[in-house]
Amino acid sequence: MALRIGVIGAGMIGSWHARILSETGGGVLAGVCDSNRALAEAVAGPLGARAWAAPERFFSEVGMDGVVIASPEVVHGDHVEMAAAAGVGVMIEKPAAPDTAGVRAIMETVARSGILAMVGHVERFEPGSALLRDAVAEGVCGQPVAIMARRQFGRAGAEKYAASSTLRILAVHDFDLLRWVHPASVSEVHAVGGQGVLHATCGLHDHVVTTLRFADGAVGAVESGWTLPPAYADFERPTGWQGAGNNRLDVYGTDGFVSNDMSLRHQPLVAFDAREGFRAAGIRHQPVIHGRVQGALAAEIVHFAQCLGTGATPIVGLEDALRAVALVEAAERALALGQPVRPEV
Ligand SMILES: NC(=O)c1ccc[n+]([C@@H]2O[C@H](COP(=O)([O-])OP(=O)(O)OC[C@H]3O[C@@H](n4cnc5c(N)ncnc54)[C@H](O)[C@@H]3O)[C@@H](O)[C@H]2O)c1
Repeated sequence: MALRIGVIGAGMIGSWHARILSETGGGVLAGVCDSNRALAEAVAGPLGARAWAAPERFFSEVGMDGVVIASPEVVHGDHVEMAAAAGVGVMIEKPAAPDTAGVRAIMETVARSGILAMVGHVERFEPGSALLRDAVAEGVCGQPVAIMARRQFGRAGAEKYAASSTLRILAVHDFDLLRWVHPASVSEVHAVGGQGVLHATCGLHDHVVTTLRFADGAVGAVESGWTLPPAYADFERPTGWQGAGNNRLDVYGTDGFVSNDMSLRHQPLVAFDAREGFRAAGIRHQPVIHGRVQGALAAEIVHFAQCLGTGATPIVGLEDALRAVALVEAAERALALGQPVRPEV
């Protein structure tokens, strides 16, 4: 029988997860919960699922094997508690929690209840990122000396993350990637934040540059920004296209380099017309092909369903989340103090 998987938090990313669950066949969409009832209904209705507004009722009434937790990170711990009480496996969106104490509390809940837990570090399912990581592990560039990551988007819509931080929303992806690609311990983290339009309007740093010193002598740098012009990714046509970002991941080592270049000048799919000018398609994470969501986000949900069904250990779990959130926490402290700090993990 198909696994029943629900979604809590029906915003930007939760609505993608709900759609994927209704399309993939890895599981069936058991129900959608959002504290904004109208939003829960707007997402669930067209997918033929029921909607809930109260999380407690959702967990007690829906009857499911697993749940995708796509609410803001401040409530992930509460939602994991409810899932554990109901004996339901969890796929928790990144960051698993706002800080390491929050991740540790989730780890305790999961250990106590024995539910399956996976974390939505979607880059682990991106072909370019996974193949780069395998190449580095195979020794293609020798011993890594510099690992450089960039993740940059337009600022349109970013204000909704004002209660979170640029580090928690953007940098955490690359912190997980860096620790996955180069699993040496990190001895020092420093960060500086750029203050532009976004900072003036809602307090979010427009661009953060984080540097990492690894205990084995390697250095890392992570750029995380909302500094592309809003119009770059904000267009109407072609209707199926999503805006692109400006991303890259480069590893330079003792014997060579490996580079995954998804930068502004290397977008594979671009268009230009007189009405909307230039635009580039974001074909990472969740491209819609033949009316169905494909790509890393769909692979992530299929993997979660497979782990739920077979009891296999997820590719990305809470220990990984702890290491990524420890870097977020250290970078947030470095930003506030104006000096480098040592991460907890
Ligand atoms: N994997 C990715 O690439 C990716 C992309 C974007 C966001 N995220 C993560 O997903 C999470 C949500 O981000 P988003 O962009 O979808 O935000 P969003 O604001 O669009 O959606 C969050 C939703 O959660 C709902 N919500 C808030 N508190 C709730 C509660 N207590 N119970 C039930 N619903 C509640 C809100 O009403 C909102 O609809 C964040 O942790 C974020 O870091 C991951």
